[in-house]
Amino acid sequence: MYSEKVMDHFTNPRNMGELENPSGVGTVGNAKCGDIMRIYLDIDENHIINDCKFKTFGCGAAVATSSMATELVKGKTIEEALLVTNKAVMEALDGLPPVKVHCSLLAEEAIHAALWDYAKKNDIVIEGLKEPKQDISEEEHEDEEY
Ligand code: FES
Repeated sequence: MYSEKVMDHFTNPRNMGELENPSGVGTVGNAKCGDIMRIYLDIDENHIINDCKFKTFGCGAAVATSSMATELVKGKTIEEALLVTNKAVMEALDGLPPVKVHCSLLAEEAIHAALWDYAKKNDIVIEGLKEPKQDISEEEHEDEEY
């Protein structure tokens, strides 16, 4: 059912954890399955993502897509990170079963939410970035982690 890459990123996730002083944090959830994904970004003054970590409370595909998404945005500029769509994450994982496509969508939304948080904190506008649809506050879900 899952590709080797999905299994690899699920059993050996990259960049799992949190950043102490992140430039931006994005937390999103899927109302239907109840899964939650949080992405932390460390962005330098040249708008390059130096570090990225994730915490995911969810299914195996959500863990694998979080892991791959963090790998894909690391070292990228903000503009390049915006191109890391759920499709790009799925392609990098050699595909996901149709019922698991929404899991990869969480990764895209979490990256966008973290970038949105960064933009808000720094009072800048990131061209092409839309306000996240889902915004789950820290308080509501502080006990949940992967
Ligand atoms: Fe919902 Fe995977 S089943 S994120």
